[in-house]
Amino acid sequence: MQGVPAETDFLVIGAGVAGLRAAIELAAAGRVVVLAKREVTDSATHLAQGGIAAALSDEDEISLHLQDTLNAGDGLCNLEAAKVLVGEGPERIEELIQWGTEFDRQGTKLAFTREGAHSRDRILHAHGDSTGREILRALYAKAKTLKHISVFEFEFSTDLDVSNGRVSGIHLLSDRGEYEHLAASAVLLATGGLGQLYLNTTNPAVATGDGVAMALRAGAEVSDMEFVQFHPTALYLKKAPRFLLSEALRGEGAFLRNLEMHRFMSKYHPMGELAPRDVVARAIVHELEVSRAKDPMVYLDLTHLHAEHVKKRFPRIYATCMEYNVDITTDLIPIRPAAHYAMGGVRTDLDGRTTVPGLYAAGEAAATGVHGANRLASNSLLEGLVYGARAGKIMRDELRPLSVRPSTNQRAASNGPVDAGSEETIAQIQHLMWQDVGIVRSGSGLKRALQQLEQIAPRIARPHTRRACEAQNLHLTGRLVARCALAREESRGAHYRIDFPAHDDARFLKHSIVQGDSIRFA
Ligand code: SIN
Repeated sequence: MQGVPAETDFLVIGAGVAGLRAAIELAAAGRVVVLAKREVTDSATHLAQGGIAAALSDEDEISLHLQDTLNAGDGLCNLEAAKVLVGEGPERIEELIQWGTEFDRQGTKLAFTREGAHSRDRILHAHGDSTGREILRALYAKAKTLKHISVFEFEFSTDLDVSNGRVSGIHLLSDRGEYEHLAASAVLLATGGLGQLYLNTTNPAVATGDGVAMALRAGAEVSDMEFVQFHPTALYLKKAPRFLLSEALRGEGAFLRNLEMHRFMSKYHPMGELAPRDVVARAIVHELEVSRAKDPMVYLDLTHLHAEHVKKRFPRIYATCMEYNVDITTDLIPIRPAAHYAMGGVRTDLDGRTTVPGLYAAGEAAATGVHGANRLASNSLLEGLVYGARAGKIMRDELRPLSVRPSTNQRAASNGPVDAGSEETIAQIQHLMWQDVGIVRSGSGLKRALQQLEQIAPRIARPHTRRACEAQNLHLTGRLVARCALAREESRGAHYRIDFPAHDDARFLKHSIVQGDSIRFA
């Protein structure tokens, strides 16, 4: 395969649901280059299990989906963004089906399940628990039929190229350590999330906050960075990854039990196991704290469910847990929460425009405000689809002639110190973020985290390898999360401060917005 070209009309960084959906929209208007940092399958989309939410069943209504989205967002959803999401979702899904996505059915009708904080069964799923993988397969197959789209794997973008206040391309770092430049008329950041900031995460290894870091360095605004969602149920076994155990398991009737084997969720919320994610995650943290065990955990219990149904409905989870000798039909599954999703990101309008001309963002890398302080389960694949399509449309409409010029602001010289210890630096960031910027936060812990990040700063100043660039991006996004969390002196959605445990609507019913070194609430 040929290498990345020197120029293109549209550049899409990221090949998950948002990036591919945007690329499909763009293909009619010009040359589209899509870059994946590793393989196309290394994305949060590919890992997404539970499904995609949309008001498509006979018992459902768009207004109910809207209300559930707003309730989960805990007062901070952008109403217009949420209306767009739930209103355009069904059409985008019908389109996916036309492009060959095989959602699970009961007879000929689409099958829907329920997840936490939904008032209706509205979660579509595919191959039981491989919804993201199936959506990605169909989008990729569709993209491959469009001759203007070229997808390149293992391409690492380091920075946006900005000239005269407009993004005009990117810098790439080859695996041989050489810098290249790619000129583009418009750039879409669809780089996904930042779960790798945390010691425990369900996210893929590529989720290192690259889009947010690149955008901030280019002068764009980012918002809502303090809101990081922790999924309550990730597999907790030594030597096993923090594999996601879909909320759909609880939707199908799984229980949460503490070490004393008690179901505990009814103590914390009337919706029990199907309470909003932030509530369940904090309830588990509390159960872990009050347990006197040395290495506490709680359990997900499916043993009362019909074994054949469980195996058929959750084949990927069943097979993965079996690899670690856990038979989910007969054994209790040890779990703990893990970082899962960033509600914040690069600030955009409803069409994916950022505050820097020529730069757009969609999916988890973006912050439209659609999720408020806490994303409703299975609204993320939907967001990627809806807002990926919208960003693609507006980029197409706003296409300007490409002005190729020699690149000037390439960073990182070849005469700096050799990058050493990126792995240790990243591990240190992950530990301190987990310890002090995690599910339960305090002013003193956040200040401690910021001090430690400050001490790390000189080590990541001049990166020369891809991994060192990731360390730098994690450091920058970690600082953003900690700074915004310190500034938000209240608790809301996924952001919980023990020193400010209540809402403070008068001061904080607003989004945090960062540009450069300044933070404001608006
Ligand atoms: C899950 O399957 O529990 C994850 C779905 C989501 O994050 O929306």
